[in-house]
Amino acid sequence: MGKGSGYGKTILFGEHFVVYGLPAIASALGSTTTAEVKRADINGYELIDNRPETAGYKEQKKEEYEKLIENVIKFMEVKEGIRITLGGNLVAASGVGASAACAAALARAINNEFRLDWNDDKINEAAFEGEKGPHGTPSGIDNTAAVFGGLLLFKKNLGGNQNTIKKMKLRKPVEIVLGNSGKTSSTKEVVGDVRRLEEEQPKKINAVFEEYGALVEEAKKALKDYDLKKVGTLMNKNHELLQKITVSSSELDEMVETARNAGALGAKLTGTGRGGLMIALTPGKNLQEKVAEAIEAQGYTVFRSKIGGS
Ligand code: PMV
Repeated sequence: MGKGSGYGKTILFGEHFVVYGLPAIASALGSTTTAEVKRADINGYELIDNRPETAGYKEQKKEEYEKLIENVIKFMEVKEGIRITLGGNLVAASGVGASAACAAALARAINNEFRLDWNDDKINEAAFEGEKGPHGTPSGIDNTAAVFGGLLLFKKNLGGNQNTIKKMKLRKPVEIVLGNSGKTSSTKEVVGDVRRLEEEQPKKINAVFEEYGALVEEAKKALKDYDLKKVGTLMNKNHELLQKITVSSSELDEMVETARNAGALGAKLTGTGRGGLMIALTPGKNLQEKVAEAIEAQGYTVFRSKIGGS
């Protein structure tokens, strides 16, 4: 039996903007999706999905995951029938890179079962093919974070050549809270809406892109200097820019507001938006707990995690 795993991730800066070639910063979460692959006397594949999930996620994403698995199998030229079992402690939800974690885990498990001896770059290519199922035209940030882990800066090469991937280091991992809106959103749809908005109002949207471009440079420096207060302020600004491109929602805004009022250094939506998750920067166990409880008191579920771990 072949085994593999992929990291869940959270985007600290730059979801959506990353699609347009601007740099984004993501961190792997401690949680992973695991995959086991066994050769079987069947046609194609069979899937047993034991991942924990936000209610309704798997049902809503069924077709997208079928494409994801087919894409990975095709790219890795698997000619035999396989039985795939997914598991791990990453809760399948919008905004944690659940599909990318699954694609990375599956690619690693196939690599293992068929002794292909692919390196991480090649595994990342397979995971990117998988991501095209749920995303249509993914930037590549999710699968890169899922395969490599850690804290990284990602910049898509719009010309089709190699993307820029830079490992970043935090002096010390920092506590975060992820608030779950409980709603599953379609990345393909939301990315498409932003594209339309950019086509209809190019001047307005390009001004937002420009503002983000300056912001992410400041964010890189603040993370390097471990200036968490500054990182938080920039996360707040990033959320405002995401509101301007219409990818937030009332639930996400409510959780962001609640987190800030409870003392979070900064808060923003993370990932696709409209549904899915928000992230709050909450250094120290006490602040993390305070913010988590404040969001829970509003009726949302939360995940307590850390960014910047290895
Ligand atoms: O919702 P998630 O975790 O799959 O993140 C999507 C990130 C986007 O920037 C919106 C899309 C992309 O391909 O980068």
